[in-house]
Amino acid sequence: MNSFVKYLPVVLLAFGAATAAHGDDAKPDNITAAENENGKYLTADGIPTFHIGEDGTVDWPTYSGFRRYHAECHVCHGPDGEGSSYAPALKNSAINLDYYDFVNVVTNGRKKVNAAQNSVMPSFGANANVMCYLDDIYTYLKARGSGELPRGRPPKKEAKSDAIKQTENDCLGG
Ligand code: HEC
Repeated sequence: MNSFVKYLPVVLLAFGAATAAHGDDAKPDNITAAENENGKYLTADGIPTFHIGEDGTVDWPTYSGFRRYHAECHVCHGPDGEGSSYAPALKNSAINLDYYDFVNVVTNGRKKVNAAQNSVMPSFGANANVMCYLDDIYTYLKARGSGELPRGRPPKKEAKSDAIKQTENDCLGG
């Protein structure tokens, strides 16, 4: 009994290592950050994604996306990407929709108007305050949908990199 208790932590550690090794073998997914490009995190496929440090510090795009989402989208889609009676929960859409489909719906809009429903997603393609921050909004919603980002304003964030500032200025100016 005594010796079992003594070795229990070792057994648990070994189990943890085996689980981690298994995770590394898993196929590249739509969420895990594989690289950090000047403060923007990308999956192995080059799709924008979020990064949350052990102390809860979020990447800049996730923080920016929180603000932009609550300026442009939450009136219909509900606070924190939770959805409303009128429009779907985008925290789920960001996980389930292909990135390019997500971008396409926001850029071009989508309508389901018939006898049974009147559901209109406006097109934002001409709105720089949305288009210049679309990856941020997508990244933020993916963090929400993954369950890793709690509701509300992220309390800690990475600094905004010079590269991100430059891209933003080019986008808003052009
Ligand atoms: C005026 C209300 C309104 C606003 C504002 C709005 N949406 Fe929507 N959105 C909708 C509705 C309604 C739908 C469902 C459309 C349908 O049934 O095809 C929708 C659908 C979507 C979808 C497709 C979801 C899915 O799972 O298929 C995405 C993505 C989306 N919206 C993103 C956004 C983003 C990002 C913003 C902010 C920049 C935004 N929307 C702002 C009303 C809105």
